[in-house]
Amino acid sequence: MEKNMDFTDVVTKRHSVRDFKDQPVTQKDLTELIKLAQRAPSWVNSQPWKVYVATGKTLQNIKDTYVQRNSEKGNPDFPVMHRDDWSSETQINMKQWRHEIVHHFENFDEAHEKMSGASTNLYHSPAIIFLTIPKGSSLWSVFDAGSFAQTLMLASKDKGLDTIPTYTSVRFPDVIRQAMEIPDDETLVIGISIDYPKDATINTYQSKREPVENILKFKD
Ligand SMILES: Cc1cc2nc3c(=O)[nH]c(=O)nc-3n(C[C@H](O)[C@H](O)[C@H](O)COP(=O)(O)O)c2cc1C
Repeated sequence: MEKNMDFTDVVTKRHSVRDFKDQPVTQKDLTELIKLAQRAPSWVNSQPWKVYVATGKTLQNIKDTYVQRNSEKGNPDFPVMHRDDWSSETQINMKQWRHEIVHHFENFDEAHEKMSGASTNLYHSPAIIFLTIPKGSSLWSVFDAGSFAQTLMLASKDKGLDTIPTYTSVRFPDVIRQAMEIPDDETLVIGISIDYPKDATINTYQSKREPVENILKFKD
């Protein structure tokens, strides 16, 4: 893997990549990144996460099954809340993101084709890292899994690899559970695709963030 980057660059340059080169990443490199992610904090150091990495034939079978079931409605372990039920601020941010990503392409048809093609093919990555936590976990463990995921994604960026965490990859948990032999008493949280990015328009979009004043309050 490449040498380390400046930390601020790692944080600001990490962004979701949606079209990978499908260039294999070694088990040794993936293990090194996962070991770094294990440094994430967790409630009383409970470390509720388990990590399952799909590569090779196993990942290809998952991708093939997902293509076959593409028109089916997803049934992820964490329920998906209808957009209208989100807070008004978060709805505005989501609408803004959709608007911007569509306008990043030549026209709506191209945006639709590239975005849906990317998700149908699970972003063409040679590895997906699935995270689970024990079934019936406290919400604190979801927080901990999030810390693990972000540490993993930043560690990856630091070593020259890009990532995307996706609902798409965990929308059929029965497929992932069977392929990865995940026990029934674990909840599938997220799948993180990882690899080197293709030189493609879909990968050059950098999502914006709200002005910090909108989310920050100091009180002396
Ligand atoms: C829990 C979670 C699930 C996500 N699922 C998807 C997904 O299914 N498809 C997708 O294209 N992006 C997915 N994303 C990526 C977000 O769209 C992305 O993180 C957000 O737009 C901010 O952009 P950035 O990651 O490039 O900074 C997901 C992100 C998170 C945190």
